[in-house]
Amino acid sequence: MMEVDVMSRTLRVQAGAVTEAVHKHCEPHGLTWPVDFGSKGSSHIGGNIATNAGGVRVIRYGLTRNWVLGLQVVTPTGEILELNGALEKNNTGLDLRQLFIGTEGTLGVVTEATLKLTQPPRDVDVFLFALDSIQSVLKFFESVRKEHFSVMAFECMDKKCMNAVVDTLGLKHPLAEIPAFSVLLEIERPEREDAQTLLTEWLEDLFEKGLVLDGTKAESPAQAREIWKLRESITESLSRRSQVHKHDIALPIAGLNAFLKDFNEETDIGAVPGAAGIEVFVFGHIGDGNLHVNFTKPAAMEKAVFLKICKQLDEKMFKLIKKHGGSVSAEHGIGLLKKHLLTYSRTTEEIAHLKAIKKHFDPNGILNPGKIFD
Ligand code: LAC
Ligand code: ZN
Repeated sequence: MMEVDVMSRTLRVQAGAVTEAVHKHCEPHGLTWPVDFGSKGSSHIGGNIATNAGGVRVIRYGLTRNWVLGLQVVTPTGEILELNGALEKNNTGLDLRQLFIGTEGTLGVVTEATLKLTQPPRDVDVFLFALDSIQSVLKFFESVRKEHFSVMAFECMDKKCMNAVVDTLGLKHPLAEIPAFSVLLEIERPEREDAQTLLTEWLEDLFEKGLVLDGTKAESPAQAREIWKLRESITESLSRRSQVHKHDIALPIAGLNAFLKDFNEETDIGAVPGAAGIEVFVFGHIGDGNLHVNFTKPAAMEKAVFLKICKQLDEKMFKLIKKHGGSVSAEHGIGLLKKHLLTYSRTTEEIAHLKAIKKHFDPNGILNPGKIFD
C-alpha cells in the first residue's frame, strides 16, 4: 500500500491488499475506506472490486463501485489498462473502470486500484428493536429515514434466525423475548449540542406511537459488538445445524411487503408435497431491499430430495422476483451456481450485449470461463 494522500483522500493499493489492513492503514489519518463486512479480515481489495462487494453499511455508503476512483486492469489479451487515474470527475464518455467492477473477473484481472476515502463516522449508537411484522419493520424504516441522524445500518432478522443463533452458538438475545422480527439499527449522531436530547425524544416517541414493541441501546462498545454478533452469526449458526440452500435477493424497498406476502403464500412449505420439515429463515440488509432467504434440510430428508424440492421453491420465488422487479443476486454475484437464473433479472437483449462485451475483451474465453453465463 502506498501512503495515504490526505489532501485528495485517496489511497493506491495492490489487488492483494486485505480490506481490514486498508482500514487500519487509513485510520491514523482520520480516514477510512467505508466498504465493510464480516469477512474483511480475509478478503482482498481485488476481490471486493471484482464482486462489487456489498455488506452492512451499503445503506449509508453504497456498494464498492462508489469507492473506487481508478483501476489498473490486465485484459485477457495482455493489455495493461490504466483507467480513470485518481479522478473524481472525468466526463469523457464510457467509464471503462465501472465496466470492470462487479464482473467477477470475467473481463480482466484487477491488479491495482486507487481507492476513494472518507471520514469515519463520529459518534455511533447501536440499537436492537422488537417488531411484530414485516409491515411494522417497513413503517419503522420509513420513520427512521426522516430522523435527524444518519442511518449507518438497518438489518432485520426473523425469529427463527435469532432462535438459531441463540440455540446453536449460545449467544444471548438482549430483549425479554425473541420477537417476530429483530431490527438492528446503527446510527451516526448529528454534530450538534442537543444530539442526546433529540435522541431521547425520538426514543420516547417511538414507544408512544407504538412503532416498536421493545428495544435496547448498546451502552458500551462491547455491548454494540454483542448486538452485531447476533446479526453476523446467522450464516454460521444455520450451517452448523443443517445443510442450507441460500439465496441473496433484492427487491425495490417499496415492493418488499408485496413480495413477501406473495412469497409466504406461494412457497408455503405445507402445500408442497414431501417438503414437510424444510425450514425457511429470512434475514438481511432490509434498508437496501436485500434479503437472504435460506432453506434448511431436515435431518431425515435425503439430500437429493431436499435439492429437488428447493428447486421447485426457487422457481416460484424467482418468478415472484421477476414480477416485483427484483434481482436474483443482490451482493453475492452470479458465479456458476446462479447463471441459470440470470434471465429472471436480465432481458435477452441485455444478455446479448453482455456476451458481446465479454467477446470483445476476451475473444478466446480464457478468463473465468463459464462464470455468469456460458
Ligand atoms: C450476510 C451475508 C450472508 O449478510 O451476506 O450475512
Ligand atoms: Zn449480506
